[in-house]
Amino acid sequence: MVSTHPARVQNSARQYLSSDRPDRSPNQQLLPLTARANSQDSLEIGGCEVTALVQQFGSPLYILDENTLRTACQQYRQALERYYPGAFQVLYASKAWSCLAVCAIAASEGLGIDVVSGGELYTALQAGVSPEKIYFHGNNKSVDELNFAIEAGCRIVVDNWWELQTLVNLSATYQQQKSNLDAASETALWTSTETKTQILLRFTPGIECHTHEYIRTGHLDSKFGFDPNQLDEVFTFVSQQPTLQFLGLHAHIGSQIFERQPHRDLAPVMVEWCSKAASYGLPVAELNVGGGLGISYTEADDPPSIEEWVKEVAEAVAAACQERQVPLPKLLCEPGRSLIGPACVTAYTVGSQKVVPEIRTYIAVDGGMSDNPRPITYQSQYRAAIANKMSAPLTETVTIAGKHCESGDILIKDIKLPPTEAGDILVVMATGAYNYSMASNYNRLARPAAVLVNNGEAHPILQRETYQDLLRQDCLPERLI
Ligand code: LLP
Repeated sequence: MVSTHPARVQNSARQYLSSDRPDRSPNQQLLPLTARANSQDSLEIGGCEVTALVQQFGSPLYILDENTLRTACQQYRQALERYYPGAFQVLYASKAWSCLAVCAIAASEGLGIDVVSGGELYTALQAGVSPEKIYFHGNNKSVDELNFAIEAGCRIVVDNWWELQTLVNLSATYQQQKSNLDAASETALWTSTETKTQILLRFTPGIECHTHEYIRTGHLDSKFGFDPNQLDEVFTFVSQQPTLQFLGLHAHIGSQIFERQPHRDLAPVMVEWCSKAASYGLPVAELNVGGGLGISYTEADDPPSIEEWVKEVAEAVAAACQERQVPLPKLLCEPGRSLIGPACVTAYTVGSQKVVPEIRTYIAVDGGMSDNPRPITYQSQYRAAIANKMSAPLTETVTIAGKHCESGDILIKDIKLPPTEAGDILVVMATGAYNYSMASNYNRLARPAAVLVNNGEAHPILQRETYQDLLRQDCLPERLI
C-alpha cells in the first residue's frame, strides 16, 4: 500500500497532481486535470496508465488529455459569456499545435482557428473548420497563401502595406474570375459582399510586457503589424477598396504573459483606433486582442486563471468602448498556449546515465531538443516525474539530457527525482504548446507519435514517423547511384 502521508506527498511527484487543486484553471496546473496516481503508484492520464501507453505506442510519446483541452476551451467561452456584454469568438492559435484532431476538438467546442501559414490553413480546413471562423495571420504571407485564403473564404489579418496592396490585386482578379464563371454558368447571382475579401488590420500597439524577448510582439520595434503612424493612411486606402470588406482591428502583445496590466492597457489603445477607423467610414465590427495568457511550467509560475484573464480583457474593452462612445464590437481573442499547453505531457524512456563526480548526474532520455526545442531556444523550465514511481521521495538532483549531438540538448537542469534506472518512464509536464509544432528531425530523429486520451481510451492522433518517412522527401540524382 502506498503512503499518502502529506510529508511524503510533498516530497514526491504526487505534489504535481492537480486533483488536490480542483479550483485551479488548467493553465495553472502542471499536469493535465485527469492525472492520477493509481494503486500501482503509476501515473494515469485520461484514465490510461502512462507506462502502458508507452508499451503500446512507443516513446517519446506526446499524451494529450482531451478533458483538459476541452475544459480550457469551455472556460474561455464561459468567461466571455459572463464578462463581455457583446458578441465574442474565441480562436485557437493553432501555431501552438496544429494537427487535424486538435483543430477538430477546438472547433467542436465552438472555437475558430488562427492560422499563420498555408499549411496551418490547410490543416484547419481539412479538420472541417468553417472558413469564416479561420483567421489568417502572418507578416509575410506569400501570393500563393493569399490566393488560398481568398479562395477558401477565410478572414485575413493584414499585416503590412505590401500585403494590403497585393491583396487588393489578388482580390480583384479573384472576384472578376468568379463573376465571369457565375455569368457563364448562369448560376446564382453574384453578390459583391459575399466575395469581398474580409480583412482585419493588425497594428503594433506599443505595449511592453515582460516575457522572453523572442516572444514579445506588442512593442513598437516588432516585425508584426502596421506601425500606428501608418494607420491613418491605411484607413484612407482601405476605405477606397471595393474588393475588400473591413471587419476590424487586431493586436497581440506577446506570449507567456503573467502580468494583467498590459492587457488592460491594450483595450483603450485599440478602442481609440476603433473610433479613428469609424471616422474613415470603417466601423469596427470585430476587435481581436490576440492571445498570450501564460501557463505554469513550474510551481514558481503564477499566471492568472483563464477566467481572470478574460475578465480583465473583457471589462477593459467594454469600459473603453463606453468611455469613447464606440459601439461594442465582437470581441475576439486567440489563445494558444493556455488552451493546449497544460493538456499534454511527453513520456520518454530513460536510458543511459552519466555521473560526473561532485558536479552533476546526467539522465538521458530517448528524445530531446527535436521534440521539445523550447529549453534550448528560450531557456524554458519544465518539471518532470517518473511515471512509475509517483510516490517515491525526490532524493536525487539530476539533469535530464536529450540524445542529440549537441551539448545544449538539456531538457531540464537540476531537477529533483527519485532514484532512476534505465527503462523508467519520465514524463515532462505541460508540453502541449510549441513542442510538436516546433519539433524537427534534427539528427534524423523520427518525430514522436501523439495519442489522445479520454475515459480510459487512447487514440493515435499523430503516427510516429518512420525511417521511410525520413527519406520521403529525399531525392538521389541518378548519377550518384
Ligand atoms: N496570436 C498571435 C498573433 C500570435 O502571434 C500568437 C503567438 C498567439 C496569438 C498565441 O499566443 P499564446 O496564447 O500561445 O501565447 N514559440 C514560442 C511562442 C511563440 C508565440 C507566437 N505567437 C514559445 O514556445 O514560447
